Amino acid sequence: MSLWIGEVVANFLVAPDIYRMRLRVDIEEPGPGQFVHLRCGLRYDPLLRRPLSIHDFDMDKGEIELLYRVVGKGTAWLAARVPGDKVSGLGPLGRGFILPSGKTLALVAGGIGFAPLFFLARKALALGNRVIFYLGVRSREHLLRQKDLAEFGVQLEIATEDGSAGFPGLVTDLLAAHLRNLRFDGIFACGPKNMLAAVAGLAATYSIPAQVSLEEHMACGLGACRGCAVPVYREDGNVTYENVCSEGPVFPAHRVVWKPSWR
Ligand code: FES
Repeated sequence: MSLWIGEVVANFLVAPDIYRMRLRVDIEEPGPGQFVHLRCGLRYDPLLRRPLSIHDFDMDKGEIELLYRVVGKGTAWLAARVPGDKVSGLGPLGRGFILPSGKTLALVAGGIGFAPLFFLARKALALGNRVIFYLGVRSREHLLRQKDLAEFGVQLEIATEDGSAGFPGLVTDLLAAHLRNLRFDGIFACGPKNMLAAVAGLAATYSIPAQVSLEEHMACGLGACRGCAVPVYREDGNVTYENVCSEGPVFPAHRVVWKPSWR
């Protein structure tokens, strides 16, 4: 982990309220599922840094990519950055996904959960895995980087809630339909909590190991304030609390205590 000042190389709108930023930074090589904690404003306004998943990393250029949704003051400030601007960050932070090699994997993304799974797909393919990428979005204008994924050799399965492209409905319903005939060695998911809970349920039903990336509000991002702690099962079955920022954000799905309100 390190504190750095990155230089904006590019920052552009790719879908309604979604921006893609390239930052030139001098950091250690990140893994998929790790995140950076960015200062999104001047003179501590807003006070807290924003955690953003690493969307991709180019070792040769020394650049990370971020994909983020504009949801408030901090991300609006970030969206207004132009090439040459400086952004202060911490990272890479957290524990990311653990990838096997030579297996058949399902990646399941909901909305902006696409951000870390794009990086994961690229790394999974480099390790000789077959990747089927389930992407759920509200409507077709929220679809991202389909051509890039196809060029990598990913099999892309799309679900839209309004039925404007691909399977009409929830991405977890599409996954459930495929699980009746397909056998996966692992499932990797990032998205809203209700989607992750549904993925965890499917993974348990079919006895497939699954890893999920959780999202929580973060203050320090370093495991010091406990503000991002979530309940998880220990090996003995008792419940404990672990920090999403330092012990996650990726957890084995069976360890997460899924609240009824997420289902
Ligand atoms: Fe402080 Fe996670 S944000 S412990």
